[in-house]
Amino acid sequence: MNSGSPVDAGTPLDATRDRLEVQGITVHFGGIVALDDVSLAAPARQVTGIIGPNGAGKTTLLNVLCGFVRPTAGSVSFGGRELNRIRPHDLAELGIARTLQGIGLFSGLSVIENVMVGATSLAKAGFWSGLSGLPRSDADERRLRDYSQRALELAGIGDFAEAMPDMLAHGQRKRVALARALVARPRLLLLDEPASGLAESELAELDGLITGLAKQCTVVVIEHRMDLMMSVCQRIFVLDFGKVIASGTPDQVQADPAVTAAYLGTDVVQAVSESGSGSTADATEPTMSTPQAKERAGD
Ligand SMILES: Nc1ncnc2c1ncn2[C@@H]1O[C@H](COP(=O)(O)OP(=O)(O)OP(=O)(O)O)[C@@H](O)[C@H]1O
Ligand SMILES: [Mg+2]
Repeated sequence: MNSGSPVDAGTPLDATRDRLEVQGITVHFGGIVALDDVSLAAPARQVTGIIGPNGAGKTTLLNVLCGFVRPTAGSVSFGGRELNRIRPHDLAELGIARTLQGIGLFSGLSVIENVMVGATSLAKAGFWSGLSGLPRSDADERRLRDYSQRALELAGIGDFAEAMPDMLAHGQRKRVALARALVARPRLLLLDEPASGLAESELAELDGLITGLAKQCTVVVIEHRMDLMMSVCQRIFVLDFGKVIASGTPDQVQADPAVTAAYLGTDVVQAVSESGSGSTADATEPTMSTPQAKERAGD
């Protein structure tokens, strides 16, 4: 990829430099233990998945990685650099970008302006050599706009650059949010439910996009759509009540009875095995929106 493309840090990706390590992270919210001694690793050039029922702690983990939530215990490092004192405004400089579980676009800005907001943060990281926070000249702004346009195209929404977010369908707005993350040229890309609200027909393209991004940066993705996760992830960690209860390849995780039990409840697992209806993974393919899971999350 040439040096002017989004998601290209300009230097060869280094397997050690771009590895995310999470060690013993615990987060308390008052009496709630949202994360309990969570450890995981996300290697460079791979898609690492985090799944688990509603309220399992997935978004909280991403919030820790971004400095939005301070853990009670544990440590995080990216490329060997400790991120324990990270603040949200350090993210661009560290090469970390995320999408939110909600979409989080500015409704008063056009699509491309929303993406340019993401790119502007790069000025502080020294990427835009002629800039210091805001474009100082027409040429600077043109460059910023071109770059943002390329990120929109990469996310498959380039034709809607001048539209206002409210005019777009949900799936299109999600692409804009993704473009805004990509324009920050992340070395670590954190995606919180990128497929939520997408039609089945849109999943294949998202699958290809995420797989392609992992050639450029370390990707961590949270998602409820198990078909997508089974396809894009090299490794999956399963959270339940704030703990890692399983990890492995998608096939290993899908076949793990503890995972099925976490989603559907032990009774269902027993019922399936007693009825002799074959693999629990097939018969009870986990979805994150089971009534049991929602109940536990207090939805
Ligand atoms: N800021 C907060 N203050 C208090 N409790 C919180 C806060 N953020 C999350 N929680 C609680 O922490 C637990 C984990 O929430 P989290 O949002 O991380 O779950 P999740 O796995 O992302 O769920 P979902 O799949 O529904 O998005 C839940 O019990 C939630 O209610
Ligand atoms: Mg969440």
